[in-house]
Amino acid sequence: MLVLGIESTCDETACAIVKDGREILSSVIASQADIHNMFGGVVPELSCRQHVEVMIPTLKQCVEEAGITLSDINLIAVAYAPGLIGALLLGLNTAKALSLALGIPFVGVNHVEAHLYAALMSNEASPLFPCLGVVVSGGHTALWDVEELGTYHLIGHTVDDAIGEAFDKTAKLLGLPYPGGPHVESLAAFGDPQTYSFRAGQVKGRPFDFSFSGLKTAVLYAMKHDFHEKDRANLAASFQDAALIDVINKTALAARNKNISDIILGGGVTNNLRIRALFRERAPSLRCFWPTRELSLDNAAMIAGLGFNVYQRRNQQGHPLNLEALTRLPLSA
Ligand code: KG4
Ligand code: ZN
Repeated sequence: MLVLGIESTCDETACAIVKDGREILSSVIASQADIHNMFGGVVPELSCRQHVEVMIPTLKQCVEEAGITLSDINLIAVAYAPGLIGALLLGLNTAKALSLALGIPFVGVNHVEAHLYAALMSNEASPLFPCLGVVVSGGHTALWDVEELGTYHLIGHTVDDAIGEAFDKTAKLLGLPYPGGPHVESLAAFGDPQTYSFRAGQVKGRPFDFSFSGLKTAVLYAMKHDFHEKDRANLAASFQDAALIDVINKTALAARNKNISDIILGGGVTNNLRIRALFRERAPSLRCFWPTRELSLDNAAMIAGLGFNVYQRRNQQGHPLNLEALTRLPLSA
């Protein structure tokens, strides 16, 4: 079964062709980073306009690169939630129009669930269920008990900034471009993470919730006191380890409590090599299923992959044409 995936939840326009939920025939990503970099963050209005311009060329390119034609596609999968409303509408309406024109079904999938599915697509082996699911991205930081694919129980989530957002804001303080995560990681490689004793926030009575806004403020204060250019790398390294170690500690604690050994991880921050090394170092008994680095950032292959799965889950029924885009959509209560 050939599935066309469409992703436009935020600042990437992406299309992909995936065979049977796993085999990626093409995956095209048009990033808007250069546009938003001028403003230091995503400007929703500009994001919509850019999606309008590049959606069709991206679609054409992904079909061409897969060596197929539009009429070979059997199903369309689109990320219809969560995200920026204008951006979501662009992808969803493209999917609906194509579904009508080609006479094939479409399914809407949850972007956050797709980040978890990316880990399954990336590994030959499957995790043992129940496993834990961890999403660390620019919009989300959350931990779930995954009973099986499609059944999630929320364990903890961020009460303020997402971890990727904290990387981006810290990068801005350090004068690095948007999106800042990869730049913080590169700078941190030259620094000593022990220099500053930062710690991510803890939420009273909620040991699995996250809070990263204080961490970013701590970085700001550190920069105001006797700060020299040579301290930038140390600051980046100290911030990075504090943020990542918090995710590892909470994941490891949840795994111990629930007697779970397998973890599936996804989202832009899993592109960071330090988080992978720290998990190995600090939680060696956990079996981590990482997405490939291409599938860790926003992409449409994970949307197509999950779409294949959702279509089976729905007994091969597509969604109706009145499916609405949602800016928020929890995977579970
Ligand atoms: O999953 P994603 O592409 O989009 C969302 O769904 O949010 O994640 C983007 C986030 C950004 O905040 C970006 O700075 C962060 O992931 N990110 C990283 C790295 N690469 C991307 N953060 C830390 N280290 C990285 N190497
Ligand atoms: Zn994402």
